[in-house]
Amino acid sequence: MTVRPGPSLNGSVRAPGDKSISHRSLILGAMATGTTEIEGLLEGEDILATARAVEAFGATVTRLGAGRWRVEGRGGFVTPDQIIDCGNAGTGVRLLMGAAAGYPITVTFDGDASLRKRPMKRVTGPLAEMGAYLDWQAEEDRLPVTLSGGSLNAIDYEQTVASAQIKSAILLAGLNASGTTTVTEPEKSRDHSERMLRAFGAEVDVGPIGGGWRVSLKGGQRLTGTAVSVPGDPSSAAFPLAAGLVVPGAEVTVEGVMLNPLRTGLFETWIEMGADLTITNRRSSGGEEVGDITARHSRLKGIAVPESRAASMIDEYPILAATAAFAEGATVMRGIGEMRVKESDRIALMAAGLTACGVKVQEEPEGFIVTGGPVRGGATVTTHGDHRIAMSHLVLGLAAQAAVTVDEPGMIATSFPGFVEMMQGLGANMEVA
Ligand code: S3P
Repeated sequence: MTVRPGPSLNGSVRAPGDKSISHRSLILGAMATGTTEIEGLLEGEDILATARAVEAFGATVTRLGAGRWRVEGRGGFVTPDQIIDCGNAGTGVRLLMGAAAGYPITVTFDGDASLRKRPMKRVTGPLAEMGAYLDWQAEEDRLPVTLSGGSLNAIDYEQTVASAQIKSAILLAGLNASGTTTVTEPEKSRDHSERMLRAFGAEVDVGPIGGGWRVSLKGGQRLTGTAVSVPGDPSSAAFPLAAGLVVPGAEVTVEGVMLNPLRTGLFETWIEMGADLTITNRRSSGGEEVGDITARHSRLKGIAVPESRAASMIDEYPILAATAAFAEGATVMRGIGEMRVKESDRIALMAAGLTACGVKVQEEPEGFIVTGGPVRGGATVTTHGDHRIAMSHLVLGLAAQAAVTVDEPGMIATSFPGFVEMMQGLGANMEVA
């Protein structure tokens, strides 16, 4: 996919459904008894893999129309007659492992080449402590793995990194464990599981503890199917909004963006950098605050991003780095070692891609510093199949001096099907090479 700089961008678009909430709506719907009707579900590859997985675990899943899905849960998972292939989705596999661990079933989880490289013990470690049995098929800590669940005991688990995936997997297992499961995290990570568990009828207790946060739930609680309205994904909205900020003369509005404060770190950061970002039409939808965000071309300046903000924007550093390339001065992004174990080593790939496009980047073990200036472009960027690395460089190319090409644009569909068409609709010059 090649993007050529030139045209300005203008228009209003809708953010696709939130990926985190979409995974959870299918998984909780399958664990629950009764019907869950979902509207606004993200129909990206990651979510379709989760939909197939919960069907294999015994739920009946029906697509009623665009983004409208029904899940008939049977109040538990059965042993699937196939390997559960989660594709590219770390959230999908980790939450499904947590959910499956609570039932007396044996299941093998696998994923694509990227997911097979990602650490799984961060989730299977606590699940094993609760009583699940893990059999690594190739290499310890890596997919494929066979999990046998059932008869779990609650644990009190202290996380060293703020990770919603770890927290959520333990809580989903804890639902079917004996006793009260507690997860403590150093900083608050996204709280979609806690909110949705409550919407499905579970009691979840949350509060501060020491310098961090504690979430507890009692085992043996039953979930009941419910209606879920999926708000727009701020992590996806970030790409058209970034284009609005960096393309001269641009004005881009993204409607219906979720404004959960544990997800809006990027918007706060951009505003500190001088971005002309306005939020209108704030309203409540599906238990979350949403709003319409307008980004206008802005003169950005580099800042040091507070490390305490990392959890609230961990997926947004690639696009932040791309916008930082157009800012005056240095943008310092530290305390983000977790970026190295996402769909790719995102610190290394952003550093390599931006450098290839003529941007000054200093890579550190747990972060990087991007110094803005004229962005030459004129490069082909290696994405290792990472959707956010691809979209970040395509946005960069919109405002670079010469065209930018990304090698695996097909992977964008994992989280943002329709991204290219949306950007073309705003005026972008993007085409398959
Ligand atoms: C997610 C949590 C984050 C994030 C991922 C989605 C979730 O991962 O990077 O894209 O839905 O819980 P970690 O919890 O591992 O940081």
